[in-house]
Order: sequence, then structure tokens, then C-alpha cells
Amino acid sequence: MDAFRITGGRALSGAHRVGGAKNAALPLMTAALLTDEPVTLRDVPDLADIANMQRLLRELGCESSRDGDALTLHTVASDASHARYDIVRTMRASIGALGPLVARRGEARLSMPGGCAIGERPVDIHLRGLRALGARVTLEEGDIVARAPEGGRLRGGRVFLGGPNGPTVLGTANILAAATLAQGRTIIENAACEPEIVDLAALLTDMGARIRGAGAPRITIDGVERLTGADRRLIPDRIEAGTFMAAVAAAGGDVVLENCPLDALMAATDRLEHMGVEVTPLGGSDPMRMTCRVRREGPLRPAQITTQPHPGFPTDLQAQFVAALSLADGNSVVTERIFPERFLHVAELSRMGAQMFRQGPTVVISGVRELVGAPIMASDLRASAGLVVAGLAARGETVVHRVYHIDRGYSRIEESLARLGADIERIDAEEARAERLAVAARSVQPAGV
Ligand code: EPU
Repeated sequence: MDAFRITGGRALSGAHRVGGAKNAALPLMTAALLTDEPVTLRDVPDLADIANMQRLLRELGCESSRDGDALTLHTVASDASHARYDIVRTMRASIGALGPLVARRGEARLSMPGGCAIGERPVDIHLRGLRALGARVTLEEGDIVARAPEGGRLRGGRVFLGGPNGPTVLGTANILAAATLAQGRTIIENAACEPEIVDLAALLTDMGARIRGAGAPRITIDGVERLTGADRRLIPDRIEAGTFMAAVAAAGGDVVLENCPLDALMAATDRLEHMGVEVTPLGGSDPMRMTCRVRREGPLRPAQITTQPHPGFPTDLQAQFVAALSLADGNSVVTERIFPERFLHVAELSRMGAQMFRQGPTVVISGVRELVGAPIMASDLRASAGLVVAGLAARGETVVHRVYHIDRGYSRIEESLARLGADIERIDAEEARAERLAVAARSVQPAGV
């Protein structure tokens, strides 16, 4: 199993181009189920989650092929509408196939996704949304089965998508996609406002859908009879950009980010300015594709952060900012309002010398002068990113195990960081362990043997 070996303490410098957004790519890929014409997406990152989604879509009759960073998806068969457990369990975003399938084929069967490392992740709001569009939804042998009403077509309705922790992003994507082919008008209230929803609506509009209001809490969709193919470039990944910003915050340095969606990162840049990290736009006419400079030379100041639905501070950057704040000059408080259990990185960071105290959804961080490298274990995608951020700033060697988690969402992040001057390499953890044991064994051999 791969691991990263990081020797920390080097400030970062140079330039990094931000890639296309994983969390935009996944729902945009499932939208290809809504048409029998090809849909091409550009700037699609080369990630394990993208490959998993391609595998799921292939099972559902949607072929895909890659040409560089362009991915073309083409639904060629519509007889298989069953998303099986062994694929769904690898990726919760599989739930996004449910709406498009039932809208286009009149029936869908998708294995019920389980919880995951970041906590319980129910899908009740997705199902409530589909029911509001007239679908009959049942649970059969661990599968969610959704059937459109008589005639095989969903019908428009009013749908409220709020839950105890705010609106749901993939739930909004699911109902938005399903409503494009429903009969009549759908109004989604308390829709997620994330930029990935805006990107999905833009693709669906290119495909012939009639949508108003994406990016605001009320979205109105007038159903159409059919959708066509389209060709679209994904928005850049705001979480990748924010992760590199957090890395500069922790390790210090001066980095230029290209293709940076600054417009979608205001909550993060607001906190960074507060922490003593300068984020300066250098140019670009599209606020979602700017060139900017991220710099920290002085001390890192503490901050209070509360994760919230967009445009609030993103939960997907919480771990990386917790890692950076562990080195701040004072006490910070970070509260997680989207996934209150998403704190698996805290125990690992403590092993590196971070001083943190967690109570419920809040972590109080007393900044320390330095973190000390250690072998640590990645547990989920963003927690792993947080551990890498900590490793870059720590004294000595950190080995982050199980980096397959990070490969789900960042394309060869170690190569990008190495280009910025970080001392980081991918190693085979088993080989490294065997090497360490051999060195240890040699050092305890009695002299003369
Ligand atoms: N929720 C419900 N019922 C539902 C759906 C969600 O109670 O039916 C709750 C969740 O438990 C959570 C809150 O609503 O407390 C928000 O969850 P949401 O549905 O918005 O999450 P998601 O759509 O499943 C996406 C991203 C996540 C990101 C969240 C929040 C994708 C593929 N995933 O998940 O990204 O953390 O939105 O912004 O877009 C990641 O990239 O590492 C990642 C986990």
C-alpha cells in the first residue's frame, strides 16, 4: 500500500495550476444518463473517484472514453438500471445516478449507501425529493427502488431540500437533474448553493434544460421532453486550491495558484487574511479562474472557524485548516456544522505534538511552536490532506499511510507539492517498513558477529 514520506520544514514556492473540480465532475458525469447523445467534459481530473464513477456508469449502459483531460460519456443502452453494492460502496456520489435514472428510464435500483469515515450520511432528503416528483420509493433487499408514476415520467412539484445540517449538495444535484425531464414545473426550496450545483445547472442548460436560479436557495425547473449532448469545461476545484493555501499557511512560502476559483473561496480567504496569509489576485477576467499569489512570511495567527453550507466556510477544508492552526501563535476554535463527527485527523495530529481538545463538534486548538514528524494514518480524503499539510510543516520525517484516500480527490498531490519545493515522495509502505526493520536489526547485532 502506498504511503507518503515527507521531510517537513521547507517553505513552498513556485506555481501550481488548479485542476477541474472532482465534486463538479461526479454529478456532471451522471447527467450523461439523461440523454442518448454524447456529453463531453473537459479538465476532468485523473482520480480514483472519477474511474469509479466511469465503472458505475458503464454498468448502467453509459460508455466513457478519455482523450487527455477530456472525458466523453455516451449512454448507449438503457436496459440495466441497477447500481450494485460493490460499486456504490466505493463512492457515495453513486447516489447521484438515482435521479437521472428514474427520470430517463422510469425506474432505478441503487444499493443503499452506508455511512463512511466522516460520519453517518443519510439519503432521506434525496428520497423525499424524488417522492415529491411523484416517484414511488421503496427499500428492497438493501436497494433503493424508485419508480416513476404511471406513464414512466416524473411530474414537477415543490420540493424542500433542507435537513438538520442545512441543504444537501448531492440531493440538490439529484433532484435538479431528475426535474429536467419531469412533466411541468419543479421548484426546489432550500437548494444547496455550492458552485458545483451552478456548474451542473450550466451543463444541463447546455443540454436543453430550462433552469432558473441555480446558485440561490430557490431553483425553478421547467421540464422538457428530451435533452441533447453537450461539451463543457469543469470549474476548477476550490477544495484543491484551498488545500494548497492551507499548505502555504502551515509551511510558509510564496506560491502562485493559476486557474484558481477565488470567487468560490471567499470564506477561506477571509480566514487566511485573518491568520496572516496574504492572498492577492494577480490577474484573470473570470473570477472563477484567477491567478493569485498566496504568501506567508510572518507568524501564523489563530482564528475561529465554523463550517457552513456555501458560501460559508467549506467542511472539505476543515481538516487542512485545523492542521495549519495547530501551529498558530495562540488559541483557535473550529466548529464543524456539516458533519459533526468529521474529526479523525485530530488524534493523528496530536501524535505529531498538536495540542487539541475536542468537545462534540468543536475543537479548541492551542497553537504549538512546532509539530514533530511521525508515522500517521490517513482515514478519509480530507483528513489525509490535513495530515499532509501538517507533515509539510513538521520537523523531521512524517510517513502518511493509506494515501489511497488522498488519491480519491487529488491528482498526484505529492508531485505538485514536490514541484513547489516540498520534500515529499510516494513510497511502498511495506518495503519501507521492511527496510526500517532491517536497519534496526543490523544496529542491534553484537560487534564481531
Ligand atoms: N444529509 C441528510 N440527509 C440527506 C442528505 C444529507 O441529513 O438525505 C445531511 C448530511 O449528513 C450532512 C448534510 O446533510 O450533515 C450535508 O450533506 P450533503 O448531502 O450536502 O453532502 P453530500 O452531498 O453527500 C457533498 C460532497 C462532500 C462534501 C459535502 C458538503 C460530493 C461528491 N461530495 O457530499 O465532499 O463534504 O457535499 O459540502 O460532492 C469530499 O469531497 O471529501 C466530500 C466528502
